[in-house]
Amino acid sequence: MSDALAQIDQVSQSARDELKAVRNAAELEQYRIKFLGSKGLIKGMMKLIGTAPKEQKPVIGQKVNQANAEIESAFNEVKQNLSQDPSGDRDYVDVTEPGRRPQVGNRHILMKVVDELTELFGRMGFSVATGPEVEDDFHNFVALNIPEAHPARDPLDNFYLESASRQGQQLLRTQTSTVQIRVMERQKPPIRVVIPGRVYRPDTTDATHLPMFHQLEALVVDRNVTMVDLKSTIMQFVHAYFGPQTKVRFRPSFFPFTEPSAEVDVWFEDKQRWIELGGCGMVHPNVFANCKIDPEEYTGWAFGLGIERIAMRKYGIQDIRSFVENDVRFLKQF
Ligand code: DAH
Repeated sequence: MSDALAQIDQVSQSARDELKAVRNAAELEQYRIKFLGSKGLIKGMMKLIGTAPKEQKPVIGQKVNQANAEIESAFNEVKQNLSQDPSGDRDYVDVTEPGRRPQVGNRHILMKVVDELTELFGRMGFSVATGPEVEDDFHNFVALNIPEAHPARDPLDNFYLESASRQGQQLLRTQTSTVQIRVMERQKPPIRVVIPGRVYRPDTTDATHLPMFHQLEALVVDRNVTMVDLKSTIMQFVHAYFGPQTKVRFRPSFFPFTEPSAEVDVWFEDKQRWIELGGCGMVHPNVFANCKIDPEEYTGWAFGLGIERIAMRKYGIQDIRSFVENDVRFLKQF
């Protein structure tokens, strides 16, 4: 009798061991045939019951049934796992399966608009300049004729940094006009540049405002530059970029760094209203003096336009937040 029991133990033990080594469906089938098949080892154990003496049959029978049940349930568990995770099937690669198409990215719509704008102005003789986004008090305010007590310096309207530089308090620039100063510091007239770049203001985010957005600044300095040059350049740009029928309007305005100053509006057909693209004007003599350019000899004009607004008008985008939400369905359209 102990012989029969030992044999049953031995079969159960090897059933457990071999099941652990099963890696895929084909191996599992081999296993099934070896242990659970009609000529398998478990059937063999059943035969032990028939050959055992009568009084031992119940004990041996019970042991065989128990071993059989254990092996079957372990087998079923492995079978289920393999069917749920076919990748466990490491020996098997279906070379005929179609591959996964890699996702190809594209340039962000805003960067494309920046390229379009600098290219367009390039054809009008403008070169491109850039400047730092972390600025000092001098370039963001002082040199631009924005006095100490001006409300534009309010901490609530600026991202001031804790560090300071030789030029005083530092901040994230609120306007690309800072780069007008940087250009004039290093280059004497004639000057004809556009300056695309990011600017920062602690505005509450909504469909037309973000705390970080982009501006396109322009600066022209030469002898005998007039407001007519400014207006005609902006009109030319608007008609070239949005179409020759596009309505543009100039409204008198005020900026400390220009005199006279104006705001530029463009008619949005879909919204049936004027939308402000930005400001412009004739460079203030104080600004020239701050950059050691003689205001008696030179005149100039400048503008600063919102690039998001330009992109929204051009591509019919309704909400400025779309630019920064990283929704692939939006980004893929352009
Ligand atoms: N810097 C102004 C702003 O961010 C826009 C602006 C107005 C720029 C007049 C100019 C300008 O160059 O001449 O609101």
